Amino acid sequence: MILDRQSRLNTAEIRARLNSTEFSSPNINADEISQFIELFQVYEGAMYELSTKLEILDNEFQVHFSHDPIHHMERRLKSVNSIIEKLHRKNLPVNTKSIKDNLFDIAGIRVICNYRDDVYSVSNYLSQQSDIQVLRVKDYIKSPKQNGYRSLHVIYAVPVFLSSGAHYTPVEVQFRTVAMDYWASLEHDLRYKTDLPDTRYSEHSQTLLDCARSLQNIEVQMQQIHRDINSAPRLDNAPQSHPLIKSDDSL
Ligand code: GTP
Ligand code: MG
Repeated sequence: MILDRQSRLNTAEIRARLNSTEFSSPNINADEISQFIELFQVYEGAMYELSTKLEILDNEFQVHFSHDPIHHMERRLKSVNSIIEKLHRKNLPVNTKSIKDNLFDIAGIRVICNYRDDVYSVSNYLSQQSDIQVLRVKDYIKSPKQNGYRSLHVIYAVPVFLSSGAHYTPVEVQFRTVAMDYWASLEHDLRYKTDLPDTRYSEHSQTLLDCARSLQNIEVQMQQIHRDINSAPRLDNAPQSHPLIKSDDSL
């Protein structure tokens, strides 16, 4: 199941947002707006290409092993407002070249898997496909963030075939288990809850960190049961062991 987090590319809305008064640095002309729209169309194509690949992998597992590694997927294109806000935050110019060179999460897919083994199997099988490239891996499952956040982030480059040829386009994929997703949603809500007193915010953050550890323990135990009763193969283990995946040194 794929949940689209927004409707399909809406060119009228992009035009309106780019023309809006809050964004006028410098005034964007009709040509540039067309370039933005063309660029969005390519990112949208890349997002669909990659989610189809993931669906095919999931179906193959189902056919061979009677096991669906993917619980569900969500996908979205970053909104024009968020793109502009991010470019401003990073002190980057607002144009298509700047987007292509600096932003790798315009197209995003979240792959929510049943078990941790599924996260690594699906990501590794996808990474081995000959027509896509792995640009960056951040493994927050092996090395969780300080707040307890866990997920495997991979940026892939996918070829989108236009009349002018293949355009390799980045898509950010976040692989996580159901438990990691459930945790991340609540942590996200807490982070954007600006009206909480500091003490309550800290208490909740600490509780969430404890919850992350508990969920991790529960997942390990359930994974063991699942391994014991299920015959699906697993690609051991973290992506570092896979020659096609280069781990991000910064972690
Ligand atoms: P930015 O996209 O500029 O933030 O940097 P990045 O792409 O290097 O960041 P990273 O790969 O670490 O995270 C990208 C996305 O992962 C975020 O937009 C969130 O969706 C998710 N994410 C990362 N860290 C957290 C976290 O601590 N909590 C939650 N809930 N989500 C997170
Ligand atoms: Mg990002």
